Amino acid sequence: MDKLHIEGGVALEGEITISGAKNAALPILCAGLLTADTLALDNVPDLRDIGTTLALLQRMGMHAERETGGRVRLRADRIHSQEAPYELVKTMRASILVLGPLLARFGQARVSLPGGCAIGQRPVDQHIKGLAAMGARIRIEHGFVVAQAERLRGASILTDMVTVTGTENLMMAAALAEGRTVLENAACEPEVVDLAEVLIAMGARIEGHGTDRIVIEGVDSLHGATHRIVPDRIEAGTFLCAVAAAGGRVTLRDVAPRTMGAILDKLADAGLAIECGEDWIRASMDGRPRATSFRTSEYPGFPTDMQAQVMALNTLAEGTAVITENIFENRYMHVQELCRMGADIDIDGHTAVVTGVPELSGATVMATDLRASASLVIAGLAARGQTTVERIYHLDRGYERMEAKLQALGARIQRIR
Ligand code: UD1
Repeated sequence: MDKLHIEGGVALEGEITISGAKNAALPILCAGLLTADTLALDNVPDLRDIGTTLALLQRMGMHAERETGGRVRLRADRIHSQEAPYELVKTMRASILVLGPLLARFGQARVSLPGGCAIGQRPVDQHIKGLAAMGARIRIEHGFVVAQAERLRGASILTDMVTVTGTENLMMAAALAEGRTVLENAACEPEVVDLAEVLIAMGARIEGHGTDRIVIEGVDSLHGATHRIVPDRIEAGTFLCAVAAAGGRVTLRDVAPRTMGAILDKLADAGLAIECGEDWIRASMDGRPRATSFRTSEYPGFPTDMQAQVMALNTLAEGTAVITENIFENRYMHVQELCRMGADIDIDGHTAVVTGVPELSGATVMATDLRASASLVIAGLAARGQTTVERIYHLDRGYERMEAKLQALGARIQRIR
């Protein structure tokens, strides 16, 4: 398995381009199932999770072509299977996003239940509850969600909690349902908005995306469209954390600062000097960061997907930060590894108390999820001496050429195969 070898203590200088958002691209690729016409997508990041999704769609009969420059062309005019098998779903929970589109367009779907994952239980009961309210007959059989419906009917759906992929699945299903669907307590994430914009470009009638009440008037069919995926706010935030921890001055291109309010606010609080334009961010850091406390929450609050990275920054800060993880119950797996590098972190339930230390020391570390791995890279870049991050398989799921981008900023980082 590949590892990353980092020689810490080098300030980051230079300019990099941010990729398209993984969490927008995943549902939008699945939206390709909703039409027999061509859906052309630009700025699709080259990631393991995207490869898994394309493999899943191809297995159903989707024609999916990756062209140069991040363009993907999809055509679902010969779908012969409505099944998502366990061996693909178990590697990527977002595979559940095929459920809504398959059911809405073909009247049936058989999707393996994702099961638990490293960061918590993550059930899909809300996806199922919403589709059942739209008239689907759903049963769990041999580990699969088996769903059928002649035609879905619009419904009023109030989810028990805010769920990102749940909102996306139900919005895609409702686009082809008969009549009006109202999604209450809907997720407001920029990736949900990006999906709504693609669906609208495909002929869907959607209002209220970006708020917690989305109204969808179902249509009989959708057509092809061309769309550019929104920039990845989590990738951008991760690189900004790296600069805040290691010091230096960087410019990010192709970013959407308007989607990054809570992240930029916390990093400014930590002492990062930030300047933004419409699609660029310039950031610089001199000296030691200041401790910055936060609680994760739904958008526009501070994202759980940035918790580990900003925790890594706090390990080096002046002062003590209190961090509360409110979205997932088991998302502190980076803590032990950060402590092995000299960090001072106490966990009590959902709360972590991080007392900054003047310096971390390099070590061999390993993480069991995507953002936890990113936090260890950040710690390694700032630490004294050498750090080896093992099992970067996780990192490859969500960061496009991370080490190449860091090398472009002058970091001493190598992939060891
Ligand atoms: C998405 C993101 C992930 C991010 C998360 C929270 C994608 C592909 N992934 O994951 O990167 O960390 O949002 O911002 O976009 N829940 C239930 N029942 C359900 C659905 C969710 O109990 O049916 C719970 C979950 O266990 C969790 C919370 O609701 O505690 C939020 O989860 P959700 O927003 O659904 O996360 P994902 O969509 O899986």
